[in-house]
This record gives sequence, C-alpha cells and structure tokens, in this order.
Amino acid sequence: MRTLLVIGIGAGNPEHMTVQAIAALNRADVLFVPDKGAEKSDLSGLRHEICDRFVTNPATRRVEFGVPKRAEPTSSYRSTVDDWHEDIAGIYETLVLSELAEDGCGAFLIWGDPMLYDSALRILERVRNRGKVDFVVEVVPGITAIQSLCASHKMELNGIADPVLITTGRRLDAEGMPDNAGTVVVMLDGNCAFRNLKDKDVTIHWGAYLGTPDEIIVTGRLGDVEDRIVATRAEARAARGWIMDTYLLRKPGEPEEQDSRASAATTRPRA
Ligand SMILES: C[S@@+](CC[C@H](N)C(=O)[O-])C[C@H]1O[C@@H](n2cnc3c(N)ncnc32)[C@H](O)[C@@H]1O
Repeated sequence: MRTLLVIGIGAGNPEHMTVQAIAALNRADVLFVPDKGAEKSDLSGLRHEICDRFVTNPATRRVEFGVPKRAEPTSSYRSTVDDWHEDIAGIYETLVLSELAEDGCGAFLIWGDPMLYDSALRILERVRNRGKVDFVVEVVPGITAIQSLCASHKMELNGIADPVLITTGRRLDAEGMPDNAGTVVVMLDGNCAFRNLKDKDVTIHWGAYLGTPDEIIVTGRLGDVEDRIVATRAEARAARGWIMDTYLLRKPGEPEEQDSRASAATTRPRA
C-alpha cells in the first residue's frame, strides 16, 4: 500500500518546520512540489529552500507539478471550486500512480497547516473515491499564518473565555463582525474587506509576508490605520507581484485591547 504524507511546512519561515515535519520529508521517496506559476515563484522557492535545508535522505527525490488556475467564479463559487478540485485530483492521481511504487511513500508540502483553508486532504479523498489507486494518508501539522500573526503581534488569539471566528474576506464583507465572537481572523482577502466595516473603533492587527524577511505588520484602531494598510498593501504587492496577508480584528472593549500593546497605532517591519 502506498503512503501519502501531508506535511504542514509553516507559512513562510523555514524555521517553523517542526521536527516531525523534517522527519516526514526524509521518510518520503518523492516530494511533490507545486509550481504555482511565475507570479508566486517565491512560494515555490520557499518549498525548495525547505527541501534543500532539511532533506538529508539521498533517496528522496522531488517532483514538480503544475497547479491549474481556478476559473473565475460564474454562477456558483462552490461549483467552480468543485471543478478545480476535480482537475487537481486527476493530477494527484497521475502523480501517485506514475511516481510511486506500490509500497512507496510520497509527500505533499502544504503551506501552513493542512487543516486551515487548504484542500489537499479533501482532494486526496476524491482521488481515493475515483477508485484507481489506494493509499494511507498521514498528516503532519504545521505552524499556520494565524500563529505567525499572533506571534509577530505578541498577542493571544482569543479574548478571555471568548470565541474566535476565522473567516474569509468575502464572508467578512457579506456578514460583517459576528455578534457572538469578540475576535475575527480574516484570511484570503484580496480586497481589504475591513474597509467596509462600519465600526471603525475595532482594533486591527494586520500582517503580510508573515515569517519572511519581508514581513510587514500594522496595528491600530481601524479608522486610524485602514488607509495606511491599503496603501502599504498595494505598494508591497506591486513591488513583489504577489501578497499574502492575514489580519485579526478585535471589538473595542475586549480586555486585551485595554492594555498598552494596542493603545498606539504602530507599523513594525521585522528586525
Ligand atoms: C489558502 S490559505 C492557506 C492557509 C495555510 N494553510 C495556513 O495554515 O496558514 C492562504 C491564506 O493564508 C494566509 N497566509 C498564508 N501565509 C501567509 C503569510 N506568510 N503571511 C500572511 N498571510 C498568510 C493569507 O490569508 C492567505 O490568503
């Protein structure tokens, strides 16, 4: 039986690789490394940097594969994603069948942690359901962008005994801040959805390229810093050709926001 390792590699800092992730890389006969295209070659580069640095098993080889672009959503976002996942499932199936021996071990290197806004596990389940190849899956957790964000801002994820909502820019735009959680973490936001929030007294803790040498973080009252974040984001994106950012919003009056860490609007490039 083939084994597929789904390894969280952290969200930008090679030093966020866990000991378990390093051992898993070295167990694999083949590392499957996505090539997301020129505009995100830095991301593919980071995966290669991780392999160069941590793979010591001479029998481990790398196989790059192209990831198809998702079509622009038409009538239904879900059906567009469904079609896209089916295409990727076909690619995974071919990779597993053509690159791994029947008792071989392959590994997928997943940005951050495989459980957070990532579909590798879902897609592998599709591959299994197509019925052409069987395998065992093992998951190795990784440091997520949310953990990096909180570490860089030196803050807790949750208010005291308070729930947290993790959502996307699209859903923040449509639904606003929830009634039942004092903290919201927003990912996958290409449009700065925070600009549309009515409550400008919310505190925002924003971070781009977290964990990398280019990390940028901004903190402050939303009304005071939103324009700065929008401008900083646009400038950084233009300079590098891509951006990944995550932010945490906390309602005013939450206990953590009353301390000195959040009292002043600050921008800190990484030392
Ligand atoms: C497809 S999701 C993958 C999340 C990943 N599985 C994780 O555990 O962090 C991509 C989103 O993660 C966030 N992200 C990932 N890496 C990041 C980084 N280095 N800095 C800021 N945000 C990041 C961004 O919100 C981006 O839109």
